[in-house]
Amino acid sequence: MPAGPEPHRSLAAALPVRGRGPLVDLGCGRGPTLQALRDHLGPEVQLTGVEKELPVLDERLARDANVRPVAADLREPLPFPDASFEAACCHNTLECLPEKQAFLREVARVLRPAGCLLLSHTDFDTMVFNASDVDLTRRLVHANADTQEKWMDASDGMIGRKLVAIARHSPFECSETFAWVTVHTDFEQDSVAHTAVRSIAATVRRDHHHELASRFDDWVDDLRTLAERASFSTASTTTRCYCETARAGPETGDGPATAIARRRRRTTGLPRAEPGRAALCAGRARCRPPSRRRCRRQS
Ligand SMILES: C[S@@+](CC[C@H](N)C(=O)[O-])C[C@H]1O[C@@H](n2cnc3c(N)ncnc32)[C@H](O)[C@@H]1O
Repeated sequence: MPAGPEPHRSLAAALPVRGRGPLVDLGCGRGPTLQALRDHLGPEVQLTGVEKELPVLDERLARDANVRPVAADLREPLPFPDASFEAACCHNTLECLPEKQAFLREVARVLRPAGCLLLSHTDFDTMVFNASDVDLTRRLVHANADTQEKWMDASDGMIGRKLVAIARHSPFECSETFAWVTVHTDFEQDSVAHTAVRSIAATVRRDHHHELASRFDDWVDDLRTLAERASFSTASTTTRCYCETARAGPETGDGPATAIARRRRRTTGLPRAEPGRAALCAGRARCRPPSRRRCRRQS
């Protein structure tokens, strides 16, 4: 699903940053998250955007002297010295990388002690559409999620739900996990939902899903009718993990998970997750210790 400004704004707001960075966005695309970071953190923070080819950043970023575009293949060792960055983010890129743990080891290497990686990924296989034909909708969503585009070296439409496990097996300490749900009710031309539907159309037509392709136009007509009746909605779920390099917190001797949660609250103002309390139901889970992850219904 193409990302509108909102997921990037919330990513930028969630990244705990103390000073002037530097920060790095790994797989930055045209730079929507970098722009959100710039808007959120001000003009002084040093930003680096990494793409396989030298990133073609949106105009404002391209003119920004504190933004450094870097060409690097994220399957290879990163072209930065140890401890280069205060924080990193990586949104909707991990699924493209065949060796996820090798990549995360490299990210840990280039982060400073107690540096934070905000790892974020949409679970494309759980995209939701309010459409009349439920079975057809499910099949279209799955077909889209299972597609490996030409520019991807791997794909996994279910990576959002696997993100916590991947983070836990990495060199990072995973301190908290959030589910971020984006809902769109606008189906106008070039809206986020409309663009998502166009991308599904491209998949089914290109990948010879003949039967799905033949029913696609009816599906879109149905969505349009629902939109005219103010009944259209689509939603996607993005999982976000706070990961910190495994160092003891210098201020209190807490473990890194506690240290990063405290720093995140200080810098982002987000409230503390109550240990074990309706964690996953509320869309947020503390990752350690495992007993805290149990989901209890709030009364
Ligand atoms: C789905 S896009 C997300 C872009 C951006 N984070 C956003 O949210 O708009 C994934 C990005 O990862 C980049 N990418 C994929 N594999 C890569 C690799 N091996 N090395 C560097 N960048 C890669 C792609 O070029 C693409 O821009």
